[in-house]
Amino acid sequence: MQKFKFYDREKELNYLKTYCQLLPNSILFVYGPKSSGKSTVMKKVIKDLENRGDLVFFYYNLREYATPTKEEFLNIFFEKGDKKYIQNSLVIDIKVFKFGIEENFDFNNVSLNDVFRRIKEDINTVVKEKKIPILIIDELQKLKNIYFNGGKSLLNELFNLFVSLTKMEHLCHVICLTSDSLFINEIYTNSSLAETSEYYLIDWLKKEDIKRILKEEGFNEKEVNFAVNYVSLPYEITQLINNRKLGVSVEDTIRNWINVERDRLKYLIDTSDIEEERILNALKKFKDKIKISYVKDVKKEEFSVFKYLIENEILFYDVVNGIIKPHSLKKIYAIRRILEER
Ligand SMILES: Nc1ncnc2c1ncn2[C@@H]1O[C@H](COP(=O)(O)OP(=O)(O)OP(=O)(O)O)[C@@H](O)[C@H]1O
Ligand SMILES: [Mg+2]
Repeated sequence: MQKFKFYDREKELNYLKTYCQLLPNSILFVYGPKSSGKSTVMKKVIKDLENRGDLVFFYYNLREYATPTKEEFLNIFFEKGDKKYIQNSLVIDIKVFKFGIEENFDFNNVSLNDVFRRIKEDINTVVKEKKIPILIIDELQKLKNIYFNGGKSLLNELFNLFVSLTKMEHLCHVICLTSDSLFINEIYTNSSLAETSEYYLIDWLKKEDIKRILKEEGFNEKEVNFAVNYVSLPYEITQLINNRKLGVSVEDTIRNWINVERDRLKYLIDTSDIEEERILNALKKFKDKIKISYVKDVKKEEFSVFKYLIENEILFYDVVNGIIKPHSLKKIYAIRRILEER
């Protein structure tokens, strides 16, 4: 079988690897357009650092699970046994750990304080071994609707724990990844998290990097110059390569991408409760521009339409930089096709 080829991302790998070795001082939120490679970059960081011996990664990828209940959350985060923390044997490609908990712990009848005490004990164990614990949660927003006794929101309380572990006690890194830009917006604008968090964007690949990679992969100049107008995500490069093997040209592959995106967008417009004209007016802002400014270009009465397009993963909202753009470059062409055809 063909081996997975990891493209580029030097800058991002450097940032995240260095970050893991600094003194913990804030919660880090890694965000970016869909499929930009957030999870892949994070796993590569763990892979590259896993044998250093002085870092212990607690890694939870909630993407793999259906939205968990309280009991499921406990099962995902803790492993029963006599050790404080335990290597997660279900993750085979990287060396990562789970929090440990004693055999007789009753998941159905546990308070949030008990849960947090266990997490802190495990983290303290790692610190006493003179290692840095690094807690990574991918798709953190999936814990949104879990409540403990007394109606306490798990996520809100977790944030308090994270602030204490990072900014206050400098014990443990906490890195949260999410592909949900409205969730990042909620966190960013939440005043109780102000000055406790850092944000790191993993964005589209840069044009010059795409060009270089495509050249290295043996595409000719004409193909490279054509493709660079449409490609923005790493997996799109892999698709071009696979399709070439299957006898599908660069041009046909890209035409097909845009058709699929156009059809998806049309369906979304047709099934929406929002008037077509309001959606088209919002999309018109991308007629000559790839990205728009949230502050300058979106009026209050237009916000609900934009929110709808963001929720439905047509548009990506980068709250930190105040920018709205499609999740990928190819979507721009789908949007423009819809505008022309309507
Ligand atoms: N640097 C890279 N080189 C090669 N392929 C990559 C790279 N980064 C990501 N990919 C591929 O792109 C696809 C999406 O990557 P990944 O799931 O990491 O993105 P993501 O940003 O976490 O997506 P989501 O927003 O859905 O969480 C995967 O198939 C992955 O293998
Ligand atoms: Mg991901």
